[in-house]
Amino acid sequence: MAALTFELYARHHCRRGDAEPFVFGSKPLGGDLALGEGRSVYAPTLEGFVSKKREHFVAGRACLREALKDAGCRFDHWAPYKADYPPEMPPGFVGSITHGGDWALAICVPRSLDEVFLGVDWEPHPPIERARKLWSRVIDDEEASRLPSLEVSRAFSFVFSAKEALYKAFSPKALGALGFDAAKLIEAAAEGDEYRVTYRLDAKNWGPRDGSTVVLRARSLDEGAAALVVGEW
Ligand SMILES: CC(C)(COP(=O)(O)OP(=O)(O)OC[C@H]1O[C@@H](n2cnc3c(N)ncnc32)[C@H](O)[C@@H]1OP(=O)(O)O)[C@@H](O)C(=O)NCCC(=O)NCCS
Repeated sequence: MAALTFELYARHHCRRGDAEPFVFGSKPLGGDLALGEGRSVYAPTLEGFVSKKREHFVAGRACLREALKDAGCRFDHWAPYKADYPPEMPPGFVGSITHGGDWALAICVPRSLDEVFLGVDWEPHPPIERARKLWSRVIDDEEASRLPSLEVSRAFSFVFSAKEALYKAFSPKALGALGFDAAKLIEAAAEGDEYRVTYRLDAKNWGPRDGSTVVLRARSLDEGAAALVVGEW
């Protein structure tokens, strides 16, 4: 059930094509042929990872490879890895990966990085004690007052996933460090079973969108929170 709701979430966005014809692939962790192939493609990289990270990594890359195929990429692209960077994409495609809990997901758009920004994040709800401990590092009082009514660990993952998605979307053109205080939650409006969330990019390092507002799609599911941001510069 957990897997299904997240998959539906992603498919829903694909069908709606909010801003772009973006394409996604998602996979539960575990064994399938693509994952087996991925394990051998990335064997040297995987040596440096702990076992959970290995599973997440290969599943994320396999999702991206599928998404690229669906988006019209003509060759089989296993995206090269560089720590703390987005996956290396073929020319003419922008992509984003997330993994956490039992899931990995990737989204890509058949456009160039100079045309669009794209970030996706999936965040399992943390234990309440952890959410309380990290809260003030991620959410300030003003933002907290604008949150939808969610219990503490759900509220935390709701904001955390959104800020991580923003980071992924904008980091390729960022001019420096972007802490969690660099984006401020302005409004979260419920729209059916999701939220249309407005953030202000409130720092000097966001690059072309410094100081502007950006709208994300976000969802709080039983097993975690998901956020997606996509748009033109
Ligand atoms: C990079 C970061 C966003 C990853 O998020 P996460 O929730 O920890 O992990 P996820 O599984 O969702 O995403 C991991 C994927 O993000 C992608 N990623 C890593 N660095 C990235 C970057 N600089 N830009 C875009 N994507 C990046 C990678 O594809 C990675 O997967 P991989 O290691 O398998 O290649 C996070 O660790 C981070 O460094 N955050 C910086 C601080 C921040 O978020 N500030 C908020 C500004 S408001």
